[in-house]
Amino acid sequence: MKNSFGTSVAVTLFGESHGPAVGAVIDGLAPGIDIDMEYIRARLESRKPYGSISTPRREKDDFQIVSGVFEGKTTGTPLCVIVPNTAQKSSDYEADRPLARPGHADYTAYVKYHGYEDYRGGGHFSGRITVALVAAGAICQSALSKKGISIGTHISRLAGIDDSRFSLNEGDLKKEIDCLGNRRFAVIDEQKAEVMQEAIKEAASDGDSVGGILETAVAGLPAGIGEPWFDSLEGVLSHALFSIPGIKGVQFGGGFDLVDARGSEYNDALRMKGSRVVSLTNNNGGINGGISNGMPLMFSCAVKPTPSIHIAQETVDFVKGEDVDIETGGRHDPAIIHRARVVVDSVTALVLADQLALRYGTDWLMP
Ligand SMILES: Cc1cc2nc3c(=O)[nH]c(=O)nc-3n(C[C@H](O)[C@H](O)[C@H](O)COP(=O)(O)O)c2cc1C
Repeated sequence: MKNSFGTSVAVTLFGESHGPAVGAVIDGLAPGIDIDMEYIRARLESRKPYGSISTPRREKDDFQIVSGVFEGKTTGTPLCVIVPNTAQKSSDYEADRPLARPGHADYTAYVKYHGYEDYRGGGHFSGRITVALVAAGAICQSALSKKGISIGTHISRLAGIDDSRFSLNEGDLKKEIDCLGNRRFAVIDEQKAEVMQEAIKEAASDGDSVGGILETAVAGLPAGIGEPWFDSLEGVLSHALFSIPGIKGVQFGGGFDLVDARGSEYNDALRMKGSRVVSLTNNNGGINGGISNGMPLMFSCAVKPTPSIHIAQETVDFVKGEDVDIETGGRHDPAIIHRARVVVDSVTALVLADQLALRYGTDWLMP
């Protein structure tokens, strides 16, 4: 399915940026999961644009759950969450309709959908659709946290500025994940928040944009989740993560950073900690042979600079087949990374809810 992901717990996305609403259907959720409306609201709030580091398009994100919940708990039948769009300004897109924004999906959407696509605001390709992923992911994330599994993502690099990395010590890591949940601009070293935001503002004042790297950690995931070969935990996670608009790279553990290391440096030495097998380092990112090894799951995503920039660029009019210049109008994020981190958490929660249901059965997520 083109807009669905997952096997046991599956999510389907629908909607367009300037249509009446966007939303998600989650099928296969366990019955009895508490729906914490405040938590969903808080996650949506963290994804919202704010200040001069985000798009001026501001939405209320007043979501509605229209099925699959009764008396505050999931019923086990398809759960549908809808988030109305309220701040569309489609006139921004009419003049530039046949011009492909470099780096955006205007041309590929046109080729695939033969001009029938809703192009306004990027249509179905817009970052706006991720609001539905966050609402759906929040339901899974709060259910997972009740099972001792916590997920956190921070901006580990932005425009060449590095944040501290996640701690190797599991106790410290859990505290860092908890702190990130309460931070609007998600960095571990709070001193980096201001300098990174300055870099976004500087790019914005030039009409330009910046990107960076998001680092994600999952603490408390049991060993044994995932499959060898095609449905490896790396495979299913990266499949879903690459669906997030603007994600252009995913690496697990040391990934590309440690390709020059020798095996003696890369290998994670093992020790017993009580009855648990643990490793002294985590260069494999908590996965061996496609299956979780019980160490924290660690991965990073490369987030590209926002494609729509207010600088003249060379492009084409794909209807006339002519070279033209474009200077994109409309309202855009000068960086998407600080918003995308919430989407990465949410997608991770959806994937893990599915993987855990496949391993232990749907009811495993019941309280
Ligand atoms: C939360 C979020 C917000 C985004 N905001 C914008 C935006 O304001 N302007 C823009 O051109 N792209 C934005 N994007 C990125 C585009 O949607 C994305 O680059 C485009 O769909 C092409 O997909 P690709 O970059 O994965 O190839 C955003 C992405 C996310 C996740």
